[in-house]
Amino acid sequence: MADWSPDSWKSKPIKQDVTYDDPEAVEKALAQLRQLPPLVTPQEIVELKKHLREVALGKAFVLQGGDCAELFSYCKQANIEAKVKLLLQMSLVLIWGANKPVVRIARIAGQYAKPRSNPFETVNGVTMPSFRGDNINGFDATPESRRPDPSRLVSAYFHSAATLNFLRASLSSGLADLHSPLDWGLGHVIDPRIREKYSAIVNRVTDALRFMHTVGLDRDRGVQTVDLYTSHEGLSLEYEQCFTRLFRHPPGATSSTDSFNPSSPPTGYYDTSAHFLWIGDRTRQVTGAHVEFFRGLSNPIGIKIGPTMAPSELVDLLNTVNPNKEIGKVTLITRYGASKVAEHLPGHIEAVQRSGHVVVWQCDPMHGNTHTTPAGIKTRAFDAILSELKQALEIHRAHGSFLGGMHLELTGEAVTECVGGAANLTEDGLSDRYETFCDPRLNEKQALELAFLVAGFYRGDEDFAV
Ligand code: PEP
Ligand code: CO
Repeated sequence: MADWSPDSWKSKPIKQDVTYDDPEAVEKALAQLRQLPPLVTPQEIVELKKHLREVALGKAFVLQGGDCAELFSYCKQANIEAKVKLLLQMSLVLIWGANKPVVRIARIAGQYAKPRSNPFETVNGVTMPSFRGDNINGFDATPESRRPDPSRLVSAYFHSAATLNFLRASLSSGLADLHSPLDWGLGHVIDPRIREKYSAIVNRVTDALRFMHTVGLDRDRGVQTVDLYTSHEGLSLEYEQCFTRLFRHPPGATSSTDSFNPSSPPTGYYDTSAHFLWIGDRTRQVTGAHVEFFRGLSNPIGIKIGPTMAPSELVDLLNTVNPNKEIGKVTLITRYGASKVAEHLPGHIEAVQRSGHVVVWQCDPMHGNTHTTPAGIKTRAFDAILSELKQALEIHRAHGSFLGGMHLELTGEAVTECVGGAANLTEDGLSDRYETFCDPRLNEKQALELAFLVAGFYRGDEDFAV
């Protein structure tokens, strides 16, 4: 790509930019980041890309989930384990439901930067910069803590590395060993009819695992551990640029498609800060800096799209970031809201179908369904989340398209941030354990429940209908 370089984004208009008041300190931080080793490898990135190709072709399903804003303080054993266990359980249920392999991508090990609607906020009469994520400034509501601090970019790397190190070590030590009994904890489900249904699914999943064990189908690596890929929003381009490294096909090869070493990733620029990066809904302008940066990456990428996206603009965007129409290279993460999905998704699907691009369609049922309670708490209703997912699934089916996956904000902790679900959390109960530093997340029980319900949709079980 002759007219692209890792810093060509600097010549384009940028949204959600951060202004630092000490340029020398910024340069010092970035110089350090440029020297540090990659967090993930091109080989792993290419492997994920192959899996996403399968998703785009309707042969696999992708589950992506994690915190809205990851904090440095979430870099703890219990926290990481709870999230991995939850994603694993959800994926088992979805494998059973959709009868397809499930690709797991966590919003973890780098999901620190947050776009904000307002760059400033006023707290107790004092106006200060908004919290932009742990890699930019502090959450404490004082002008000192909110001052963007470039050394946080370096801390972000080390917290990502520590999280990823523990993730990799625990997966290879059997955290995801499917032989160990999993605690499915269904005690919270109040309605006995629903509890019976969920228990029946759990029994089917565990029976299948036991059967595989008995007949020896689980001897390969597949059942002792699972693949889990990392992702975050590629918002802070200074940071992402530092990890965008040119990988050359091995010496001796004459072209990037040389079959000299077929398992080697093609020559290209890989953003090695995570396997998968996405562009947020606020920074996806076709002629803007973020799209410019992303169009040069060899990673699989996501683009969030909402009600303000015109179908023709969507096609321009796909042509810009994926001119070769690589299948599954782009994941379109749709986030309209339960009351708007039926209005916007059909036009987007039709435009993409006409364009010849084959994308992964992923539903984010979180970001279009946020509301504020009369008490001023930001929340999301479980039923609205489920309804957007169900409508998306049906709209894709009606268009001869596939809903390839879901993108959720969730946590392995027993927080109280979203209302509804089988434990019937009410608005009054939200204050019990409301801990998010950004958007409200599904707790572990709500997230698992969502997996049961989506599995039910795939199985065509009408009893699961909302
Ligand atoms: C997010 O995923 O946390 C987010 C900010 O989403 P969006 O860009 O879709 O608003
Ligand atoms: Co969010």
